[in-house]
Amino acid sequence: MKADNNCIVIFGASGDLTHRKLIPALYDLYKIGRLSESFSVLGVSRTELDDTQFRQKMREALIKHEKTSGEMLDKFCEHLYYQALNTSDALDYGKLVPRLDELHDKYHTGGNTLYYLSTPPSLYPIIPECLAAHGLNTEEFGWKRIIVEKPFGYDMKTAKELDVQIHRFFEEHQIYRIDHYLGKETVQNLLVLRFSNGLFEPLWNRNFIDYVEITGAESIGVEDRGGYYDGSGAMRDMFQNHLLQVLAMVAMEPPAIINADSMRDEVAKVLHCLHPLSDDDLKNNLVLGQYAKGTIDGSDVKGYLQEKGVPEDSNTETYMAVRCQIDNWRWAGVPFYVRTGKRLPVRVTEVVIHFKTTPHPVFSQNAPDNKLIIRIQPDEGISMRFGLKKPGAGFESKEVSMDFRYADLASPSLLTAYERLLLDAMKGDATLFARTDAVHACWKFVQPILDYKAANGRVYEYESGTWGPSEADRLIAKHGKVWRKPSGLMKKKV
Ligand code: BG6
Repeated sequence: MKADNNCIVIFGASGDLTHRKLIPALYDLYKIGRLSESFSVLGVSRTELDDTQFRQKMREALIKHEKTSGEMLDKFCEHLYYQALNTSDALDYGKLVPRLDELHDKYHTGGNTLYYLSTPPSLYPIIPECLAAHGLNTEEFGWKRIIVEKPFGYDMKTAKELDVQIHRFFEEHQIYRIDHYLGKETVQNLLVLRFSNGLFEPLWNRNFIDYVEITGAESIGVEDRGGYYDGSGAMRDMFQNHLLQVLAMVAMEPPAIINADSMRDEVAKVLHCLHPLSDDDLKNNLVLGQYAKGTIDGSDVKGYLQEKGVPEDSNTETYMAVRCQIDNWRWAGVPFYVRTGKRLPVRVTEVVIHFKTTPHPVFSQNAPDNKLIIRIQPDEGISMRFGLKKPGAGFESKEVSMDFRYADLASPSLLTAYERLLLDAMKGDATLFARTDAVHACWKFVQPILDYKAANGRVYEYESGTWGPSEADRLIAKHGKVWRKPSGLMKKKV
């Protein structure tokens, strides 16, 4: 289905996200015919540029991101426009009114407008108010939607304040809080795997599952985002949003139907059931780390404290591992071990469901536990690991695997997360966007962890290129488990 005719207004148009993700995603949608010819993009930021200069910059960005040049690119760039604006001055927003009128007329959009806040978070409360000052939020002529990038708030208090502020000018049905992990094909596939197969769902509970591991590992460091990252850390940057959303997809109940309300009801319900972690729990079940220099892929890399924009005495965590529990009938007693970190040996996001072992070992050497590995990225796929007899005498068992890899599918390539989410927002489908109650539930769970860190502050150093501080291994070993050490590719080992 195509997107509605509309004008997309990107605030923060000179920023990194616009170059690297948003414009390439829109271009790809255009190439595959998912955008009608009746769309336009109005880039907005403080930098003084005209339409031609903006088009030129976006063209360079698209060529740099390995998109081909040519007629298609030229045609796409004709849909791009630019307006320089002092984004914190309400009066200046008056300039948007004639620009938007002109674009709506030219592209017959009926007034449909998608605002994308891709600015520093300090502007999130300001932009909606400034738009409203010029009536640019009303839905009298066409829909008005606003996409808010993460982080949605800095903690529980600021998240609530931000909500109140945005709700003063936009209604909940107009607000799209983006978490790009929800746009990943394999995250959505978790739902299809669980709810369209009779095989898994009966086993998907405390009776059969021993524990769950969720890993969001990155080999990159903070790159040139040290300034932002240092105020955020792994907890706010990855855990509070992306990884808790993945956890919710693993643990939620089946929705009655797949639509925005019932899906998001179930997500919110499970997040509300996260067992609150007391200081005592955290003493035993949380490990924070910060990368020191080391080697990745044979190259020397610097430590976090040497990164640009990072204070030399920073105590910000670039790694966290935590043991969570869910207080409901399905999951009581099943630990969810969640970890994320930068400068780990490989980039991999995966969920591992560890099933309980057999009640009694019939053979002298019992098979390892059965695992279902859901590889979110890269080399997206699913792998089922189980034990079979080693050929030869005796009854020794050996772990084998049945693998499904997206790469083996002869289907068109997957939509990237931003493509999928931009398209959904243009179609008015909020299913894969976080609702306010879910965001609050995440902050409610994370707030005691932030407070604990503020009071106790222990952040262990780990060498770049390793799997984080050894304390994280002890965290899980105390319960008789070990972290899986995944490789960059989903191995086929039949
Ligand atoms: C972003 C974080 O939200 O997600 C980054 O701010 C992180 O620090 C990125 O690198 C990871 O996204 P992906 O899609 O590469 O796993």
